[in-house]
Amino acid sequence: MTFPIDKIRSQFPALALEDGGMPRLYFDNPAGTQVPKSVADAVYHCLIHENANLGGTFVTSHASTKIVADAHQAMADFLGTDDLGEIIIGASTTTLAFHLSRSIARDFKAGDEIIVTQMDHEGNVSPWLEIAEDHDLTIRWLKFNEQSWQIEVEDLKELLNDRTKLVALNYASNLTGMTNDVKRLIAEAKKVDALVYLDAVQYTPHALTSVSELGCDFLACSSYKFFGPHLGIVWGKKKLLQDMHAYKCRTVPEEFPTKFETGTPAIELLAGLTATIEYIASIGEQGQTTRRQKIKAAFQATLKYEEILTRQLMDGLKNLDGIEIIGSTSENQLSQHVPTISFRHKTIKPRDIATSLANENIFVWSGHNYALGIVRQLGINEKEGVVRIGMAHYNTKQEVSRVLDAVSRALGG
Ligand SMILES: Cc1ncc(COP(=O)(O)O)c(C=O)c1O
Repeated sequence: MTFPIDKIRSQFPALALEDGGMPRLYFDNPAGTQVPKSVADAVYHCLIHENANLGGTFVTSHASTKIVADAHQAMADFLGTDDLGEIIIGASTTTLAFHLSRSIARDFKAGDEIIVTQMDHEGNVSPWLEIAEDHDLTIRWLKFNEQSWQIEVEDLKELLNDRTKLVALNYASNLTGMTNDVKRLIAEAKKVDALVYLDAVQYTPHALTSVSELGCDFLACSSYKFFGPHLGIVWGKKKLLQDMHAYKCRTVPEEFPTKFETGTPAIELLAGLTATIEYIASIGEQGQTTRRQKIKAAFQATLKYEEILTRQLMDGLKNLDGIEIIGSTSENQLSQHVPTISFRHKTIKPRDIATSLANENIFVWSGHNYALGIVRQLGINEKEGVVRIGMAHYNTKQEVSRVLDAVSRALGG
């Protein structure tokens, strides 16, 4: 089946926008994606037709209560669990990590250990540093391997011991685009009974995620990275969520996930979240019966398509003089790459390159992108960071060619 790129693009009004006669080229996707019209419509529909608080006796309150349940069910299907009670939705992944870390580490004792990696986004590092300070816990730093660009099991093994209470890992780096063999890493952490908190924010937009197969205890993702509204979502193992103390108002029942979802939810965004999952499922729609099956088929199709774009971008960047790619350039590792590539130039600063591209209406990021551990481990100037180009399944080969031409011009070519 050829990838239905025209049909897909026609669903995203933002992709057709221009500024000063120049089309917009969105290559800022690791920082946030555009949304299909159906998602914006669902938010609008909720605000105009179903706007009420939860649990009331009247029609709009019934509707908003259903919206919340539907969004949890949609995320359960997206992440591969049967139990919508295991889905916690909040303002952002970072907010949820700060909030949940308080519950998770409540019974940790002084001297207990938490492992964080040099490969993670700060959203899965800083919450653990803060809670470690509160409880006098020891932080162990896990480096990534600078040849494979991954976290190696052997390196994790060296840090694990019977005081390790939690390992914070990432599925895919938001800077190098490299994924980790998280199943193996999680299995290793489980040998000392450590909890594993997995940041899947950069993985979930590109590949099927199956919490039931990974073995982790918590998995975090952000729907604005996968064509949805600005929300964070954490899946947690039922038994843990049941047993964990929740910091909440006295009036909130001990039910989960409600007990971890403090305050009134962003109900209109939850309506958008269900529409987001419906959009993803629609890409894979070919007579499958369940939404989960459709999601699986959708990622099979997008993964293949994105790999073509990644290869094109990688080959093009490799051919430009003076560029150093910050990440794996190996053909063998391409399938372990999400479609995000970062680079530096030997003389031209990342921000200047990003600005040159912005002048051609091409959107990319520069800086450390909150992957502070990576730039620190590599000794990259933190203020400068890298240029990051990140794609989604709505980008095209023609766009990639235009970006490569523009980068070449930015470098004086
Ligand atoms: C890998 C990773 N983790 C966490 C986050 C933080 O997500 P949020 O903005 O939902 O807090 C990001 C955001 O860029 C990210 O890329």
